[in-house]
Amino acid sequence: MNSYLEAITSLGYGNLHPGGFSHSIKVMSGIPIASNSIILDIGCGTGRTACYLSKTRGAYVFGLDISQKMIEKAQARNLRAGTEAQFIVGNALDMPFRDEVADIVLIESLLIFLPAEEVLKECRRVLKAGGIIVDIEMTAGRTLPDQARQQIKRVCGLPEFLSLEEYASLYENAGFKKIRVERRNLPGPLAGLKEMLHIDRHRAVAKEKMSPELINILLQYRLLTIANRQHLGFGTFIYKKS
Ligand SMILES: C[S@@+](CC[C@H](N)C(=O)[O-])C[C@H]1O[C@@H](n2cnc3c(N)ncnc32)[C@H](O)[C@@H]1O
Repeated sequence: MNSYLEAITSLGYGNLHPGGFSHSIKVMSGIPIASNSIILDIGCGTGRTACYLSKTRGAYVFGLDISQKMIEKAQARNLRAGTEAQFIVGNALDMPFRDEVADIVLIESLLIFLPAEEVLKECRRVLKAGGIIVDIEMTAGRTLPDQARQQIKRVCGLPEFLSLEEYASLYENAGFKKIRVERRNLPGPLAGLKEMLHIDRHRAVAKEKMSPELINILLQYRLLTIANRQHLGFGTFIYKKS
């Protein structure tokens, strides 16, 4: 398993993507969702956004994650929060969903860990015609030194570390039609304050003790992102299946 993902799984945080929960709320508020919409949150982690959408938008929300531990945390959250999302263990590269079932596919920091082209192909398969894909991913700026790029790839176990433009090309090559692509800087230290406005009351705190190796990986990631903050950003990609 990817050790970085293992470390963040053990932390059990609710929002493991750039921009955090406040960004998810803002982005999803602009997406048309009906009470009978089907939303698939792919790589849902501990399911915070999925539970939020189930509660606030009344849609049918399914969270999929390859990690049994993440899904257990998401199910515990769902129970505690009294929400009605459903969580399933499965692979984004071969999703257990039939063709053209979803109105919305949501991805928050997943493509970066996988062969993005293949995931997008699967997302396109499960989306209805006219369905929307919303994706938030960390991106490499043009000025990112190659050594730092290689270090980030190694520490986080990334196959590639793409720029916003490279992700946008992947979407277009996969046959999606652009609605909006937004570029942001990687959140600075004050972003933590914004997130404090949204306390995660239903977080499943890790019961297991984290190994020194995993702690070291988190530390290396933190140091690399601090040192290279001006070269890093994140993109919000909103596309339609035409
Ligand atoms: C950075 S976390 C983001 C979790 C969640 N979307 C969030 O923002 O809090 C990436 C998630 O993708 C999941 N993942 C990695 N590879 C996957 C795959 N092939 N299929 C499904 N989920 C996967 C990991 O287990 C992890 O929960």
